[in-house]
Amino acid sequence: MKAAVGCKKAGFDGIEIHGAHGLTINESKKVAAKLEKTGVDVIDVFAGHINNSMIPILPDKTYPYGTFVHLAREIKTMVNIPVVAVGRIHTFHIAEHVLKTKSADFIAVGRGLLADPLFARKIFYAETEKIIACKSCNTCIKTISKGKQLVCAVNSELD
Ligand SMILES: Cc1cc2nc3c(=O)[nH]c(=O)nc-3n(C[C@H](O)[C@H](O)[C@H](O)COP(=O)(O)O)c2cc1C
Ligand code: SF4
Repeated sequence: MKAAVGCKKAGFDGIEIHGAHGLTINESKKVAAKLEKTGVDVIDVFAGHINNSMIPILPDKTYPYGTFVHLAREIKTMVNIPVVAVGRIHTFHIAEHVLKTKSADFIAVGRGLLADPLFARKIFYAETEKIIACKSCNTCIKTISKGKQLVCAVNSELD
């Protein structure tokens, strides 16, 4: 709370509290309902566990696109505040599908923005065919985990 007040005084518009990883979906649903009551504005649904390779935090290409979207949809049944989906939403069509099916209110893009920082701009200007898609190879996280400069397999400008 002290840190949140400090951020507000410093001029930030909002703060994000990281509470993901290691909870079951049922536990997460209960937490989400409680968070809404405390005045939280938005919930970003992320999954996985750092010590459990069966449920990876950064799903590779062996996992389906929109890996955690079904979990966002579950959380949406518990709250009325906006819910964000993240995880392998790497193309315009996947993003559009998530929003059209009302599985989430917003999407978040992580690696897709490392691969192509103009991801959102290209969608806005209807240039979706020009998007350089993330390959979910995880070269990026592997390099920074070793304390090295981040390398992206499809964006050499980051090297
Ligand atoms: C290089 C890298 C660093 C990340 N660091 C964080 C972090 O510090 N905190 C966090 O909550 N998520 C972190 N993430 C996870 C992303 O926010 C995102 O949830 C995850 O990559 C899945 O979404 P994506 O498939 O769009 O990349 C990181 C991801 C990458 C690739
Ligand atoms: S290195 Fe680039 S292409 Fe590979 S997962 Fe990371 S962002 Fe995606």
